Order: sequence, then structure tokens, then C-alpha cells
Amino acid sequence: MRLQTKMPKKSTSACSPKVAAQYASFARELCLEAGALLKRAYYRPRKIAHKGPIDLVTSADLASEKLIVRKIRDKFPEHSILAEEREEIANDSEIRWVIDPLDGTTNFAHGYPAFCVSIGVQCQDVSVAGAVYDPLRDELFSAIANRGAWLGRKKIQISATKKLSNALCATGFPYDVHNTQKDNLANFRRIIKRARGIRRGGSAALDLSYVACGRFDFYWEMKLAPWDTAAATLIATEAGAKVTDFSGKPFSIEKKEVAAGVPAIHKTALALIK
Ligand code: IPD
Ligand code: CA
Ligand code: CA
Repeated sequence: MRLQTKMPKKSTSACSPKVAAQYASFARELCLEAGALLKRAYYRPRKIAHKGPIDLVTSADLASEKLIVRKIRDKFPEHSILAEEREEIANDSEIRWVIDPLDGTTNFAHGYPAFCVSIGVQCQDVSVAGAVYDPLRDELFSAIANRGAWLGRKKIQISATKKLSNALCATGFPYDVHNTQKDNLANFRRIIKRARGIRRGGSAALDLSYVACGRFDFYWEMKLAPWDTAAATLIATEAGAKVTDFSGKPFSIEKKEVAAGVPAIHKTALALIK
């Protein structure tokens, strides 16, 4: 059963399925190009700066973002753009591109091979297209609202796992973990006592894409930003995952909490998360 993606309120030509498919194709193209840039940078000495005590930014985050934003502005100068490392470009447009130029910066900075580029497209604040690219594995995930999700050219679907006890789960921890009680550790403890296992992959967009292709059965995280979730929550939804906030209400990218998983497991797992 595939869950229906929410549609933009007004059906304007900018939001039509045909145009969404064109945005998805451009998002894939940009991900491949920015991903190639990240891959080259990964094998060279890395320049790292701090945004917070454990929140890093590298020269590759900035170079990837510069490339993506320039190409979107060249092709769609009227569109809005929200990208992690720069000020928002807020134009009077129905379309907004939401970009994480390097999701998994801590991994990248330490030479741990798990990171990606994530590009989501929204029409009237509803996700209509998205792409996530892992350049080291050469895996390109993408989705178009109500048309499905793909890994490369192959359609993907969530796993057939039915019970939390058979589930491989994933999560992450927020950058303020040193200084807050809201640190996700109690959730981690409750889930690990019931599931087959938990991974902390270090890239929210890949975690969600892995739910989409059945590698993970359930993923949750708190204190995320729109660029972490814009593309990959659509990919997970289109692959059949249930994607909500922690209270079980439908997810939207302004929400900081996400719980995504196989519908049969989602309810049981969500009851353990606060
Ligand atoms: C981070 C990653 C990580 C998640 C953090 C995110 P960044 O994004 O997705 O897995 O746990 O909450 O902020 O900083 O690498 O783009
Ligand atoms: Ca991110
Ligand atoms: Ca990032």
C-alpha cells in the first residue's frame, strides 16, 4: 500500500506532476554534480571550521552549496532557495528548493564514508520532488510526489518487516547533546531493548532513504532542520513509509521531529518515543 502524498492546495502549472518530474530530474543532475565535488574533496586534506562545539562545516559544504545554488539561480531565477550554509533567498514564488549540500558533515570531516547531498523541491510548501545522492556508493535516491521513489532507475519500497523485534532501526543525536536533557538517550534505550538493532549512521537524509529502500525499518530523530528532511521524507513516503512527527501527526519539513517507518512497526515504535 502506498500512502498518498499531500498535494499543493492550488493546482497551478508550477505544481503539476509533469513539472515536478522536471524538478526531480534537475535535482538528480545537481546531486550528481555536487556529489562528484564532495567525493573529490573527501580524498584531499579537509578544511574544517566550527559552527558550534561539535557542529562542523567544511570547505566542501560551502563549495557544494555554491555550485547547487548558482545552477538553480541560472535555471530558475524566480524560485526561492533555502540552503543550510547561507541566508535564504525568499522570492515571491510557489517553488522553493531546500538544500543540504553535505548531510553527514561530521562523518565527512573524520573520513567516515557516509554522507550525501540532499535537494528537495516544494510547491506551496508541499514536497513535490527530491533527490539524495551518496557519491561514495554511487547511490542516487529520488522521488516525485504520487509517482513513486527510485534508487537509480529501480523503483524502491519499504521492507516487509512486521515486528519491532525484527526491525533494524536508525536514529541520530542533536548537536546540543552535551548541554540538554532532551538528548534522545532515553528513546534510544527504550527502542534498543525491543528492536533487533539500532544504527547511528550520521546522515539523516541517508537514514530516511534507507527506510525507503528497506535497509532500515524505522528511523526517528529530533531537532532536525528542513534541509535534513525535505528530499528524503518524500522519498520515504513515496516508498510506502509512514512519516510523522512524534505525536503521530503528518510530518512537514518545518517540524523538527521525524519518525518514519514501515506502517506495521511505526505505531509500536512511536509509543516508545518522547
Ligand atoms: C546532521 C546529520 C546527522 C543528524 C544531525 C544533522 P549535517 O546534518 O544529518 O545525522 O543527526 O541532526 O544535523 O550537519 O551533517 O548536515
Ligand atoms: Ca544535515
Ligand atoms: Ca549539512
